[in-house]
Amino acid sequence: MAVDTKRFDDGVPSLWLEPLALAALLALVVCVVCKLYSRLTVGVCTSTKSMKGKTVIITGANAGIGKETARELAKRDARVIIACRNLQKASEAAKQIEAETGKQIFIRKLDLCSLKSVKDFAEEIIREEERVDVLINNAGIVPFPERVETVDGFEQTFQTNHLAPFLLTNLLLNKMKETPSSRIITLSSSLHHFGRIDPDHLDYSAYKVPMQVYSDTKLANILFTRELARRLRGTGVTANVCHPGAVQTDINSTYVGFLNFCLNCLFFFFGKTPLEGAQTSLHLSVSEEVDGISGEYWKDCRVAKGSAASRDMKLATKLWNQSEKLTGLAI
Ligand SMILES: NC(=O)c1ccc[n+]([C@@H]2O[C@H](COP(=O)([O-])OP(=O)(O)OC[C@H]3O[C@@H](n4cnc5c(N)ncnc54)[C@H](OP(=O)(O)O)[C@@H]3O)[C@@H](O)[C@H]2O)c1
Ligand SMILES: *[C@@H]1O[C@H](CO)[C@@H](O)[C@H](O)[C@H]1NC(C)=O
Ligand SMILES: *[C@@H]1O[C@H](CO)[C@@H](O)[C@H](O)[C@H]1NC(C)=O
Repeated sequence: MAVDTKRFDDGVPSLWLEPLALAALLALVVCVVCKLYSRLTVGVCTSTKSMKGKTVIITGANAGIGKETARELAKRDARVIIACRNLQKASEAAKQIEAETGKQIFIRKLDLCSLKSVKDFAEEIIREEERVDVLINNAGIVPFPERVETVDGFEQTFQTNHLAPFLLTNLLLNKMKETPSSRIITLSSSLHHFGRIDPDHLDYSAYKVPMQVYSDTKLANILFTRELARRLRGTGVTANVCHPGAVQTDINSTYVGFLNFCLNCLFFFFGKTPLEGAQTSLHLSVSEEVDGISGEYWKDCRVAKGSAASRDMKLATKLWNQSEKLTGLAI
């Protein structure tokens, strides 16, 4: 017996007894499984429907997901209007898409950090465009580590991600109601699961961790869409919201150091390319399968549930009422 035990000790590689090595191996397996899972579940827009004669507005389309969405819609012959704050960057993106697709891209100035800019943009569209078939509220930012205020006195991320798109959509609503079967699409994030909205404290004057503010605004995107869909029932206009996936874009450029490292790790394991990230926006813009569907949260071109808070219609109505007051839509 004694001999057997000794042989057993010697025969097993000591590696298997090292907890650290075991943990590392486990981590590697988890990473490989995650990477495989994220590769296999990428949603793809399979509709090849032509968008000829249709006008699409995409905010923040000079980079990232928005730019890919613009390119794909141009390929499908839509009249694509990119709404950007930086006209230099917009013109570079437009030139690149035009060279690749042979289609013209139209540029309009829109800075979501200024409600005046939102109103000017909407007036221009109402005056100059015959129709708006699709509005994609794509532009969004992650907050800087410190609190930044806009010229309107709101926290910058809250205004860029929620308040300004709220105002823009409302200002374009009549135009969209005049356009048959028009669609409103807003980009949220699965980080909305961490979001908390208190409609009575939307000034964000108290300090919050940047990612908390971001998650709050992404929850606001879904609540906004569900309430909008409720109000639009019977008008022919639909409103949907999506999570594009973890997408390798400039969205990582806000952070340096450890946070940036974490973000890049996340992208490495779960990351999609911008073109993959644009698929759900594209599906919601063009696919016949989406006809008549409204108020839903989408992921990988499929309807998803979203958090319990994102389905709280009382919260959605309260947020809507407050947003109306803050943007001056309700007098
Ligand atoms: N990437 C991801 O992993 C991820 C995950 C979940 C959700 N999302 C959402 O997807 C959307 C697109 O993100 P992305 O990854 O494509 O980001 P991105 O590459 O950083 O692009 C964001 C776009 O928004 C524009 N923008 C920012 N502030 C603006 C303002 N005040 N007025 C007008 N345009 C403004 C940017 O313009 P400039 O070039 O001038 O800055 C840029 O064109 C966002 O709503 C984001 O929250 C992204
Ligand atoms: C952000 O991600 C892009 C794409 O993965 C990468 O090329 C770039 O270096 C990253 N930027 C930073 C600041 O980490
Ligand atoms: C929202 O505003 C409407 C109209 O002003 C009002 O009837 C309703 O009770 C308000 N709802 C909530 C939840 O605040």
